[in-house]
Amino acid sequence: MQYSKKVLDHFIKPHNQGELKDADAVSTVGNPRCGDIMKMYLKIGKNEKGEEVIKDIRFQTLGCGAAIATSSMATDLVKGKTLDEAMRITNQEVAEELGGLPKTKLHCSNLAADAVHKAIENYRKK
Ligand code: FES
Repeated sequence: MQYSKKVLDHFIKPHNQGELKDADAVSTVGNPRCGDIMKMYLKIGKNEKGEEVIKDIRFQTLGCGAAIATSSMATDLVKGKTLDEAMRITNQEVAEELGGLPKTKLHCSNLAADAVHKAIENYRKK
């Protein structure tokens, strides 16, 4: 199976991995294809325009290398973004930013953006 260099970099040295103890929002999503699970933690604050932004983000993934790489990339993509901007990030964009994923591993990218969206939805429901 051929992974891009970027996928391997994010898998070997994931960014924003771990738990955020004082998170404002948390989500858990599961992948129906393989049963893998991802948890996303968000710290939310305001920018200079008064918009709500993702100040900090962490993830924990019980999953394969592609799931870890996509989680890592998704957290990089949405950190510092407004909640509305983060809601627009798609799983496909995350996979493209990684230089693509092997076809058999595309379903692994379904967790990352979904977990971010779900955490934001949970936060907005509060
Ligand atoms: Fe389950 Fe990749 S095999 S997320």
